[in-house]
Amino acid sequence: MSLDTMCEKPHERLARLLADELVAVNGLIRERMASEHAPRIPEVTAHLVEAGGKRLRPLLTLASARLCGYDGPYHVHLAATVEFIHTATLLHDDVVDESSKRRGRPTANLLWDNKSSVLVGDYLFARSFQLMTETGNLRVLRILSDAAATIAEGEVLQMTAAQDLSTTEATYLQVVRGKTAALFSAATEVGGVIADRPEAEIRALFDYGDALGIAFQIVDDLLDYGGSDATGKNIGDDFRERKLTLPVIKAVAAADDDERTFWDRTIARGKQQEGDLDHALTLLRAHGALEQTRVEALEWVSRAKAAMGALPESEMRDLLVDLADYVVERVN
Ligand code: IPE
Ligand code: IPE
Ligand code: MG
Ligand code: MG
Repeated sequence: MSLDTMCEKPHERLARLLADELVAVNGLIRERMASEHAPRIPEVTAHLVEAGGKRLRPLLTLASARLCGYDGPYHVHLAATVEFIHTATLLHDDVVDESSKRRGRPTANLLWDNKSSVLVGDYLFARSFQLMTETGNLRVLRILSDAAATIAEGEVLQMTAAQDLSTTEATYLQVVRGKTAALFSAATEVGGVIADRPEAEIRALFDYGDALGIAFQIVDDLLDYGGSDATGKNIGDDFRERKLTLPVIKAVAAADDDERTFWDRTIARGKQQEGDLDHALTLLRAHGALEQTRVEALEWVSRAKAAMGALPESEMRDLLVDLADYVVERVN
C-alpha cells in the first residue's frame, strides 16, 4: 500500500473505487445544469459546481448500488439527482441564511442576487425531477420526491424555531433529520431499491443514511462554532442567524441567570455586538456543550455502523462503515 493510499480519507477511497461511475455522474451533472434559453443559469450553476463540493451524497448512492450488486445504468441518474437536489437546497439555503461563503467561494446570492439563487435553485430542482423519471422506477421517484418535501419542511421548521430559546433537543433532531438526513437516507435507500434487494436490506440502507446524515449535520453545527477555513464557509453564521443548534440548546439548558440574559439578548432579541460570538464560545466550553454534542454525533455514528450489519459483508460495506467515522473527524 502506498503512503498516499494509507492517508486516503474514506470518501476519497470511495471516490477512487467508484471513479468511473463518478465521472459519468459529473458528466451528467454538467450536461443537465446547462440551459439554452437563460444564460444566467449556466453562470450560476458553473460557479457552484466548479467549486467542487465533497459529492458525498452521490457517492452514497453509487456505493449503495455497488454494494447491492446493481448492474444497470440508473444509479448514475440517481446519484446526479441527489446532487442536484442538494445543490438546489444550498442555493436556497444561502439566501435564507444570508450566507456569503460556500465551497470556499462567495455565494451566488452575493455574486449575483437572491432572485438568481432562488430561480436557479428552482431550475435545479426541476432538472432533478426530470433526471429521476428517466429511471422509470416509481418507487425511487416516491423516495426522492418525499425527501425533497421533507428537506423543505426541515428548513421551515428550523426557521420558525430560530430565536426561540425554548427549542428542545427533540425539535432540533426533527430539523436535522428533515433538512439533512432525509437526503442521505434517500441517497442510500434508492441504491437498494433499484437493485431490487430484500426489504430488510433496503431498510438497513435507509437507517444507515438517516443516522449518518444526523451525525453529519450535528458535526456541521459544531464546525460552525469551532471550525476553520477548511469548511469553505464562514464560521459563526449560526450564532449570527440566531439558530438553536445542539451546542447552544445544551448551553442554554445549563445557563445561570447572567448567562440566560446573554442568550436572551443575543439569540432571542438579536441584539448582538462585538465580542458576543467569543463569549458564546466561552459559555459553550464552560458547560462542556461542544463535547456533549460530539458525543451525540458519535452515538449516531454507532447507529449508522450497526445498521450496516444487516447487509452482506463486502469491501463497500466496510468502506461505508469507515465513512461513518470520518463524518465525525471531518474538518470540511
Ligand atoms: C452542506 O453539505 C450542507 C449540510 C447538510 C451541512 P456538504 O458539506 O456535503 O456540502 P458540499 O457539497 O461538500 O459543499
Ligand atoms: C444545511 O443547512 C441543510 C440544507 C442545505 C438543506 P445549514 O444551513 O445548516 O448548512 P450550511 O452550514 O449552510 O452548509
Ligand atoms: Mg446555511
Ligand atoms: Mg440553513
